[in-house]
Amino acid sequence: MSILITGVAGFVGVNVAQALLAKGLRVCGVDNLSRGTRKNMSKLLKNPNFEFKKLDITKPNALLKACQQFSQQEAITECWHLAANSDIPAGVTNAAVDLKDTFMTTYHTLEVMKQLGITKLAFASSSAIYGDHGSTAIVEDIGPLLPISNYGAMKLASEAAISAAAESFLTHTWIFRFPNVIGVPATHGVMLDFVHKLQKTTGCLQVLGNGTQQKGYLHVEELVDAMLWIRDKASEKRAIYNIGPADEGVTVKFIAEETVRVAQPTARIEYGQGNRGWVGDVPRFVYSIEKLKKLGWAPKLGSIQAVQKAIRQIVAQEQT
Ligand SMILES: NC(=O)c1ccc[n+]([C@@H]2O[C@H](COP(=O)([O-])OP(=O)(O)OC[C@H]3O[C@@H](n4cnc5c(N)ncnc54)[C@H](O)[C@@H]3O)[C@@H](O)[C@H]2O)c1
Repeated sequence: MSILITGVAGFVGVNVAQALLAKGLRVCGVDNLSRGTRKNMSKLLKNPNFEFKKLDITKPNALLKACQQFSQQEAITECWHLAANSDIPAGVTNAAVDLKDTFMTTYHTLEVMKQLGITKLAFASSSAIYGDHGSTAIVEDIGPLLPISNYGAMKLASEAAISAAAESFLTHTWIFRFPNVIGVPATHGVMLDFVHKLQKTTGCLQVLGNGTQQKGYLHVEELVDAMLWIRDKASEKRAIYNIGPADEGVTVKFIAEETVRVAQPTARIEYGQGNRGWVGDVPRFVYSIEKLKKLGWAPKLGSIQAVQKAIRQIVAQEQT
């Protein structure tokens, strides 16, 4: 069977593609390479079961044509829709960014799936759909859902569009609500940001906010494992799952100190004001993964170990 991955050249896309190929599946990937890169896909591109087409999903004829071409060898039966804007502050500044890359990519992917009779969809949603619930443990059916970033709003709108499609033509939907995911190939995120800042301004790391923001972090290897688990085990037509670590997370201060320790031990850290890195940043969230645990999956790493592992990997990535 062949699987379509949108956003395949990005951080999560590369890791999902590797895992599906390792299961012996054929993977057809698309990406406009706005954030993802061919370098990220260097290993994938050597695999005969992997095909790639550079295109923008918001130009739906290009996506339809590519999928028709992919399907000539073997029909695509399932789509993993991962393409989105991953720069949350950019979407706060300009709402059009998330309308196009976070929502319209979902809309057009659904339209093309409908035309080609692809009825299974796995979707990368986000904790950002929940908004700010302070220290309340967030379960999947908490409400009201009041996102505080355009990114979160467009992910929630995407979930709604997928839910409607599940009533008309989709037979299976898996909606994964990710926490902060870390690892390599890193394309964005707080750790990559810190490493770049240390490269630019040797001796000093300037942190957005006062460092007290606290969130759960999951390593991408565990994320992929959890997604495949849900895909194989969940029986609901709209299978919606939080995926995250089983703890309350770590602070930005911890991440800053760990990054400095690994990348540049002599650097000093300067903190900003307030407990938000940017408008739309949720300063603290606590995720419940009880539903996922009941399905039989639990993470092996806590946020601390995941952060330490990812920092080592990202520092190494930026040195090559
Ligand atoms: N990494 C995280 O912490 C995290 C957290 C929550 C949700 N997510 C979601 O997981 C998915 C993957 O995120 P990621 O971290 O790999 O981000 P990423 O930026 O590395 O990957 C997204 C990919 O989508 C591509 N893309 C964007 N707009 C496109 C368009 N119009 N047409 C074609 N390709 C397009 C980009 O080039 C990029 O390669 C996204 O949907 C993201 O919203 C990620």
